Amino acid sequence: MATVTYDKATRRYDGSTRPAVDQLELEVGDGEFLVLVGPSGCGKSTALRMLAGLEPIDGGTMRIDDRDITNVDPSDRDIAMVFQTYALYPHMTVGENMGFALKIAGRPKDEIKTRVAEAAKVLDLTDYLDRKPKALSGGQRQRVAMGRAIVRSPQVFCMDEPLSNLDAKLRVATRTQIASLQRRLAVTTLYVTHDQVEAMTMGDRVAVLKDGVLQQVDAPRAMYDRPANMFVAGFIGSPAMNLLTVPVDGQGTVQVGSLGVPMPRDGHGGLTGSTVAIGIRPEDLRLVGTGEGVEVVVELVEELGSDAFLHGSVTGGAEGGGPGRPPQPAAQGGEGHAGPDPGAAALVRRLDRRPRRRLTPPAGDPPQDRRPQGFSSAATAGMLRWITGRARRGRPRRARGHRP
Ligand SMILES: Nc1ncnc2c1ncn2[C@@H]1O[C@H](COP(=O)(O)OP(=O)(O)OP(=O)(O)O)[C@@H](O)[C@H]1O
Ligand SMILES: [Mg+2]
Repeated sequence: MATVTYDKATRRYDGSTRPAVDQLELEVGDGEFLVLVGPSGCGKSTALRMLAGLEPIDGGTMRIDDRDITNVDPSDRDIAMVFQTYALYPHMTVGENMGFALKIAGRPKDEIKTRVAEAAKVLDLTDYLDRKPKALSGGQRQRVAMGRAIVRSPQVFCMDEPLSNLDAKLRVATRTQIASLQRRLAVTTLYVTHDQVEAMTMGDRVAVLKDGVLQQVDAPRAMYDRPANMFVAGFIGSPAMNLLTVPVDGQGTVQVGSLGVPMPRDGHGGLTGSTVAIGIRPEDLRLVGTGEGVEVVVELVEELGSDAFLHGSVTGGAEGGGPGRPPQPAAQGGEGHAGPDPGAAALVRRLDRRPRRRLTPPAGDPPQDRRPQGFSSAATAGMLRWITGRARRGRPRRARGHRP
């Protein structure tokens, strides 16, 4: 068992103008499952490879427990890595693949056999030990790669997008298996993914990276409820948070489409005349009657079965990013004094006062006709594209715990 510490660890590739990983400060607890997440190229794999010793460090230090491993050879770090491409030896059987690291470490045959059998049992691979990788499904190969890491009983697991090659259904099943296996083995784990759903569902904590810079580390739910900045707010959550950058008028109100939203007074009295960033989670919006709330033109309904997502446009002059779009540069300037929460809380309170109505279209209507009456079709210049709400059918929608 072990703790892992990145202490201002930096990696700058030759010829790059900026570091791939920039002064990363991160502590992973003993037995913790920490997920590193961020968009492509943000430095996730580099951070993992730095820990495994596959990438040299240009600044700072790395420790496992109190041991400085900055310049320790990879083979002496006691870390097992699982890669996206399972990298199994095609000419070896499953059992030989899993035991290979122990074999080259010179462990006795009996011990290798026992440890491989134990790992195979945990991973449900006992019946496949004599097969070659080519006779396995993708999910089974992925489990062999996991098994190869497990038999080593390492201090730390490093997993770099191990589920990326699996189809959607298998991904869901395997991510549950990995998460529960990790909890059973209680081995400190760093898990890299660009999939924020994986990050939210698997990790004890999630670390968000952007351009090599750590943005926030927190428990999944805490990060969802209180993102540290605009980037995290837009990145965590699916469908993504609606992000708007809006001016505060002389009355201390911001205009969201046709709806004036007073800014909370507590501590925000000085915002008049400035621009604030507002984030609204799609599930915090409600469908209300004609003439109430924000006027929205529904442009698309995504019917997922359990949920339906409405995509639409808001009339009004506000500028902002749509769902999943990166925050606008102007909006980022507001990070320090006005994150998305005060505005979102205000809007949610305002919308929550409205009578609620569920989206229950007549049976047989095509999706594009499921336009709730409260959304007029008044489309004007300055439209904002955003996701306007999510209807949970069959059970009451609940408000998220936003508190001003
Ligand atoms: N060997 C290398 N030489 C030069 N630059 C590199 C090298 N490997 C990675 N980079 C750069 O470093 C940055 C971080 O790369 P890294 O592979 O860590 O990203 P990532 O977050 O794992 O992305 P992905 O999700 O696409 O796997 C990128 O800009 C990448 O182009
Ligand atoms: Mg990568």
